Amino acid sequence: MINVSDLNPEKIKTGLTSSVIGSEVLVFGEVASTNDLAKDRLVKNSPEGLTVVADSQTRGRGRLGRAWHSAPGLGLYFSVLLRPRIDARHLPRLALMASVAVADAIGEFAGATKLKWPNDVLLNGKKTCGILAEYCKTESSEGVVVGIGVNVNHRLDQLPEEFRSAATSLFIENGEPVNRAEVLRSILERLDAEYRDFLSHGEELLVEKWTERTDMFGKQITVTRGPTSFRGTAMGLDRSGNLAVLTEDGSRLSFESGEVTLNG
Ligand code: BTN
Repeated sequence: MINVSDLNPEKIKTGLTSSVIGSEVLVFGEVASTNDLAKDRLVKNSPEGLTVVADSQTRGRGRLGRAWHSAPGLGLYFSVLLRPRIDARHLPRLALMASVAVADAIGEFAGATKLKWPNDVLLNGKKTCGILAEYCKTESSEGVVVGIGVNVNHRLDQLPEEFRSAATSLFIENGEPVNRAEVLRSILERLDAEYRDFLSHGEELLVEKWTERTDMFGKQITVTRGPTSFRGTAMGLDRSGNLAVLTEDGSRLSFESGEVTLNG
């Protein structure tokens, strides 16, 4: 394990007020994927709240089998281990919960954020954060790893070319470099508060909070699932966090996963 200049555990933990999330913080230089490291720890019975942070990833994973661009010195790439007592099929709710926390934290550093289903955080309509929650169960251990990637100090030319029209960073939006440890600390604190709220109040409040932070409802969207696309109006989330869509022929569809694009 190495200390990466602006990302050493002391810097991250100094002043951290959370009670569970970030109870232990491990910082690495280059790793394959922080989700994989956090899963290893989960199997070894590390405590809830353990946070694995890396300066860069060689095999950062995104949703739907995609890669997550994880260049050194620029972004935040980290995974948090949770052990909620919820059914594995409710995993998407934890990713929704994390997106609410990240949206509020990033808002402190780069202005108003919006959420796009299922758990993208947007600045100025462009993606600045992605979340990948993975369930893990072995004979001796069970839990969830919530992996979070944030574009922090990237210039536009440091984002992969194919994403430049749809992605952004905190730096691109506010014109100032941001200290990664400060952003991380703020995310961990908000995650701690949202997680406690979720455990005590459940999905209804979560869906309410998520809905307050999006502007996609009422808009025309396309949901893509593998080779199939559906066009319609985004209507809202049900209590499981599934997306309700009213299609052009009047049918109501409910999506558990998929990729949303706003039409027009
Ligand atoms: C998405 O596709 O929007 C989700 C991206 C999640 C990326 C993060 S970076 C830290 C953690 N480790 C990974 O391999 N993936 C997640």
